[in-house]
Order: sequence, then C-alpha cells, then structure tokens
Amino acid sequence: MREINLVINGSDVQATVADRLLLSDFIRDDQRLTGTHVGCEHGYCGSCTVLLDGASVRSCLTLAVQTDGHVIETVESLAVGADLHPIQEAFRSNHGLQCGFCTPGLLMTTLELARENRDCSRDEIRERLAGNLCRCTGYHQIVDAVQAVLRTGLSR
Ligand code: FES
Ligand code: FES
Repeated sequence: MREINLVINGSDVQATVADRLLLSDFIRDDQRLTGTHVGCEHGYCGSCTVLLDGASVRSCLTLAVQTDGHVIETVESLAVGADLHPIQEAFRSNHGLQCGFCTPGLLMTTLELARENRDCSRDEIRERLAGNLCRCTGYHQIVDAVQAVLRTGLSR
C-alpha cells in the first residue's frame, strides 16, 4: 500500500492505495466518480479516458500510484450543476451520442484537443478521436460536434 496525494477535478485528494490498483478503479470505486466508463480494460476502446496534467490517458492502463503529485480531470469536471459544458452542449445539439457509453472518453479527448485552440480538418479530428471507439453513431455527428467546439472555442 502507498499513500498518494493528487488533485481530482480541482479538489485535493489523499488516499492509501494498493500498488497495483488501476486509476480507473480508483476513480470509480474509491472516489465514486462513475462517469468514467470502463469497457475493454485493455487500452483499446478509450471509454476510460481522463486527463492527467492535461493530457489524455487511458485510466485502465494507468496505476493510481502513478498519479501521485499530479492533476486528474474526469468527465465530472465538465458540467456545473445542470449547466452543460460547451463540449457537452455541442455533443447534445449535434446528436453526437446515442447510448453514451463512449461519451465520457470522447468528451475528455475533445477537451484536450479544444485546449490547443486551433481549427482542425475533419480528417484531423477523426485522427485525434481514433483512440475512442463508438459502436452507435458512425462518428459523423461526433466529428460535427468536435468541429463546432473547435470553431466556437471554449468559454470555460
Ligand atoms: Fe480503458 Fe477500454 S476501458 S481503453
Ligand atoms: Fe454508444 Fe458511442 S454512443 S458507443
């Protein structure tokens, strides 16, 4: 067991965790932040994507102890109460989700991209989203949503 200190969604967190505990399990089971989804648990589907110091990582391939001293952002950091984040609003208004299983990971990958503050072609967007699998939408509306976000920018 090891003590870790990190920031999750703006809050200081101190915890004692097993050396082998996955970040996805730490987030979901210990921290009760179940918005991060777990699909394949092998690094393929991207549904477990969170930001570690602003960079997207697979939380199913990251150990909780690796986050000691770092900053984690999960999908719960996006909305403020009932107020959707601009990225969530873009996915909603462009019909970029159906079952929603892939959506938390896609939102966090989009957040990383949107913070780069540049426009991207549809092909570039598809390339950036290539690590996030969606079994429902056919991706077209997801790309629409991301393009809308990149065009308007992030207001928060
Ligand atoms: Fe982590 Fe699929 S659950 S990549
Ligand atoms: Fe169902 Fe993407 S909306 S997997």
